[in-house]
Amino acid sequence: MSFFQNTCKPEGIGGKIMVNMMNAGHSSMAEWGFTHIEIRNDYRCLDIGCGGGANVKKLLVKTPYGNVIGIDYSEVSVIKSSKINKAEIENKHCEILQGNVMKLPFRKETFDIITAFETIYFWPDI
Ligand SMILES: C[S@@+](CC[C@H](N)C(=O)[O-])C[C@H]1O[C@@H](n2cnc3c(N)ncnc32)[C@H](O)[C@@H]1O
Repeated sequence: MSFFQNTCKPEGIGGKIMVNMMNAGHSSMAEWGFTHIEIRNDYRCLDIGCGGGANVKKLLVKTPYGNVIGIDYSEVSVIKSSKINKAEIENKHCEILQGNVMKLPFRKETFDIITAFETIYFWPDI
């Protein structure tokens, strides 16, 4: 497996390095994306393919009266996202789940907004 395959599903030590790189390297693109969407302070948000959790963290700042769930099928991503959002998870403002976008464990109308940064091109069926 090449190091860059970790962009699709971070695994092992290469994956741990990759999630740190994604949190830093994807930041400006995500900031630009956020300027195009309205996120109210009580929104229930889902971030699919949350990677290292940096965008979950940004969403949490925008929704102090809402909540944010991050989901990713990579265990490495879930661990990193959980680590950087630990305080908000502990105060029940955030959850990080391991799961595949093709089989999301949510009912319809659960969220006010769903984000997916730099991940949709890996999904088998958009
Ligand atoms: C390039 S990273 C982007 C991470 C983060 N959204 C960001 O912008 O930094 C792609 C992420 O999508 C996740 N991913 C890819 N396909 C997925 C799928 N079918 N279901 C859930 N997560 C998926 C990968 O595990 C990886 O963490």
